[in-house]
Amino acid sequence: MIIAVDGPTASGKGTIAKAIAEHFELPYLDTGLLYRAVGYQTVADGGDPDSPEDALAACDFRSDLLRSSALRSEEVGGYASRVSSHPGVRQALYERQRAFAEQPCGAVLDGRDIGTVIAPEADVKLFITASVQERAKRRWMEMQGREIDIPLADIERDIAARDSRDINRADAPLRAAPDALVIDTTALDKEQAIQTAIEAVRQALR
Ligand code: DC
Repeated sequence: MIIAVDGPTASGKGTIAKAIAEHFELPYLDTGLLYRAVGYQTVADGGDPDSPEDALAACDFRSDLLRSSALRSEEVGGYASRVSSHPGVRQALYERQRAFAEQPCGAVLDGRDIGTVIAPEADVKLFITASVQERAKRRWMEMQGREIDIPLADIERDIAARDSRDINRADAPLRAAPDALVIDTTALDKEQAIQTAIEAVRQALR
């Protein structure tokens, strides 16, 4: 069984996908982390995330980079969004995601194009969304918790820019698959969002 969970940044898709994986006892892959690793490695090598050649050269990053907390920053999220617009980078990361999705035991993957490109045959597709303001507020609170002080307005601006880049890129843009169930978490707290998503998966599997 393959469960695809797509959506924009800070929509809650990661939390939801993890909870679904735990509930249905399936392995989980955060595909954004792969793009973050490429973005991080590009800059660490002195390259430019907007250069297709520099970004492609960074696709052979070492696997242990995926465990680094450095990948979680907003800055690296921005690099990831930029390298993810290069078709060569998307192609280089495709097989890895595909192999994970094809495991005989099934899998949960979260990202931007899981239901549309990586696993269009997924048994269940969820598209998690929330307003830009609500997503910025959540990210701001998370940062406050980590004692990082960034003005809410700056976060909102960065999220809107990232949405626009992810939605408007030519290759595999952020988009709900036509057969995806859309869950808007704007008015839901974390537990409500998780329960809504698990219930949606249960219904879809009936
Ligand atoms: O989910 P995230 O914030 O960690 O993703 C970081 C960036 O990676 C996101 O802005 C776009 C890109 N990405 C993508 O293009 N396709 C995916 N399946 C996952 C992430």
